[in-house]
Amino acid sequence: MRLLGIETSCDETAAAIVERDDAGRGAILSNVVRSQLAEHAPYGGVVPELAARAHVSHLDHIIARASAEAGVPLGQLDGIAATAGPGLIGGVLVGLTTAKALAAALDKPLIAVNHLEAHALTARLTDGLAFPYLLLLVSGGHSQFVLVRGVGDYLRWGSTIDDALGEAFDKVAKLLGLGVPGGPEVERQARLGDPRRFKFPRPLLKEDRLDFSFSGLKTAVRLAAEEIAPLTPQDVADICASFQLAVTDIVVSRARAALARFRAEVPEAPPVLVVAGGVAANQAIGAGLRAAALDMEARLVVPPIPLCTDNGVMVAWAGAERLALGDTDGFDIAAKARWPLDSADMGLGHGH
Ligand code: KG4
Ligand code: ZN
Repeated sequence: MRLLGIETSCDETAAAIVERDDAGRGAILSNVVRSQLAEHAPYGGVVPELAARAHVSHLDHIIARASAEAGVPLGQLDGIAATAGPGLIGGVLVGLTTAKALAAALDKPLIAVNHLEAHALTARLTDGLAFPYLLLLVSGGHSQFVLVRGVGDYLRWGSTIDDALGEAFDKVAKLLGLGVPGGPEVERQARLGDPRRFKFPRPLLKEDRLDFSFSGLKTAVRLAAEEIAPLTPQDVADICASFQLAVTDIVVSRARAALARFRAEVPEAPPVLVVAGGVAANQAIGAGLRAAALDMEARLVVPPIPLCTDNGVMVAWAGAERLALGDTDGFDIAAKARWPLDSADMGLGHGH
C-alpha cells in the first residue's frame, strides 16, 4: 500500500509518500520538507499564526511535489494520513483539513496520526524493528521515554516536568545571543569550550524515576552568564560545553535507568533503545547513549536525522501501519493541541 503523509504541527510543512508491503517492509518514495525557519527567525521562536499561514501558502505545492517525485498520482494512493495533534492547533488544522478534503475527493481512507506515534514508529520503517522497544523522544516540544508495545499501544514511562530538552537548548542559545535553532549552535560552540569550567546542576539525577527537569539547569546557566558578563567568545563556548555535558549526563543516566526497567519488565525481548526528535542530532548526547547502550548490552537505533526531525515520511508510515490493521478515522475526527502518547489516554475515538 502507498500512503501520503502530511505534517504541519509545528514549523515544517511536509508531505511524503511511503510504500508498505504485506510483510511490513517500508520504502520511502518521496520526502518533501519546507522549513519555516526564515519566517520565524526575526521573532526568536515559532509564531503560531505565521506558521499556520505559511502552511496554507505552501502545503498544496508540497503535496504536488511529493506526488510528482514519487511518480504516484494522488488517485493511486491507498490512504491519506495527516498529523492530527499534538501541536500548534492552527497548523494542525491546515494539514488535517487538507487531508480530509483529499480523502473525500479521492474516496480514500483517512488516517489521523498522532505526531508522537509517528516519531515512535519511524524506526520500524528505517530499521525493521519488531515490538517491543524503548523510545527516547527528545525534540523542541517533547522529552519522554515510551515503551512501544505495538501500533497504538504505548506506555509513557517518563516525561519532562518543565521544559523539553530541545527547548532548553534553544533557551540557552537565546540567552547567550546565539542564532536559531539553538541546539546546533550550542553544539557548535560546545566543541570549542571547556565542559568542566561550570558545575551546572543535574536535576532529578538521584531520583528513582524516568522524568526530566531542565528549567533549573537553564536558570543556573543564566545566573552563571550574568555573573561573568560581558561574555567573551571563550566564556560562551565554555558555558555551552558545560551545559551540554550536564544534559548529556542527565539523558544518559535516565536512559540507563529506562533500559534497566525494560530488562526487568520485558525480560523476553532484546533491549532496544530508539532515539527520535531533533535533539537526536546532537553528537555528544549520541556518543553518551551509544556508550551506555554498549555497556548495558542493548541495541541503540538512531534513524537518519532528517527522519528524526519533523517530516511527512513518519506520518505516512504511521498511517500505513494503522491502515494495515484496518484502523482508519472518520471525517469528524478533530485536531488536537494536546494528545499524549499513552494507551490509557489514546482509547477514545482512536479505534484502539
Ligand atoms: O524534532 P524537531 O525538529 O522539532 C520539534 O520540536 O518537533 O526538534 C527541534 C529541536 C530544537 O529545539 C533544536 O534546537 C533541537 O531539536 N536540536 C538540537 C540539535 N539539532 C536540533 N539540540 C541539540 N543539539 C543539536 N545538534
Ligand atoms: Zn516532532
